[in-house]
Amino acid sequence: MSNVIFYFSGTGDSYSIAKGIQKKIGDTILAPLLKAKDYKVAEYNIVGFIFPVYYVHVPQIALSAINDISLRKGQQVFAIAAYGGSWGYALQDIREALSGKEVILQEYKIRTPGNYILEYGALPKTYQEYILKKAEKQINKISGFILEVKKTGYIKPNLIARIFHSRSNKQRSLFGEIGSKFYAKEQCVHCYQCVKLCPTKNITISNGNLIWGNKCAQCMACIQWCPQNAVSHPLMKKDRRHYTNPNVVVNQSGEFE
Ligand SMILES: Cc1cc2nc3c(=O)[nH]c(=O)nc-3n(C[C@H](O)[C@H](O)[C@H](O)COP(=O)(O)O)c2cc1C
Ligand code: SF4
Ligand code: SF4
Repeated sequence: MSNVIFYFSGTGDSYSIAKGIQKKIGDTILAPLLKAKDYKVAEYNIVGFIFPVYYVHVPQIALSAINDISLRKGQQVFAIAAYGGSWGYALQDIREALSGKEVILQEYKIRTPGNYILEYGALPKTYQEYILKKAEKQINKISGFILEVKKTGYIKPNLIARIFHSRSNKQRSLFGEIGSKFYAKEQCVHCYQCVKLCPTKNITISNGNLIWGNKCAQCMACIQWCPQNAVSHPLMKKDRRHYTNPNVVVNQSGEFE
């Protein structure tokens, strides 16, 4: 019986972590979390979930997909939160979502350089490299723990998360509205990579123009991966640097490789 890792990823960090774990634990397939319904998940040996943290929680779209998955009693499941500054309630969200399913849950978190370009620009390259090197070491360590079925403790919210929690709920309720304000600048070359990448199909084409609807999950894929840096937003300050995980590329079909 092989293993499966489901990832949800906007800028490639969660996907890159998934690839790293796959390489280390072997006999594992990777699949987008939003396609989990196409898999008989209960038949796999180990099941992994890897996702970013959005405003100190698991992205709602990812949590809903996890909620819909049928798992086997006693199945080994691991969850890894990729976070830029505070993992917050992310692992608690997963624990609660899986609480009735009687699985063996391992909880992990890995720090990444941070990707929320509507609030801040990318860190300097050398600092990104430092963080990603540390992440690589953690991937190796965590892979060992997964193979040993090591018991992990609960990862609880830290102080920053508890302080900012009320802001978090408000911000998360605004994702759709904020997402509808993205727009394409004139350097857009109509490659439609952003349309292919969007996990909620929030970007449509009308008379050759791109229109962002109100189903945005705030994953930042459209704005961060655009080859022309043509996607912008009223919250986007001029000269803010873009970030995508340096070990990941987007193929012609808009999938991560
Ligand atoms: C809308 C949004 C909210 C975020 N909120 C948090 C947060 O509360 N805490 C945190 O540590 N990182 C936060 N981040 C940063 C991401 O969790 C982090 O950059 C992650 O590695 C991105 O993973 P990905 O490349 O797989 O999408 C946020 C990012 C976005 C886009
Ligand atoms: S990815 Fe960028 S260049 Fe391509 S269609 Fe979207 S906005 Fe235009
Ligand atoms: S519109 Fe952009 S930020 Fe929103 S979900 Fe789609 S790709 Fe992600």
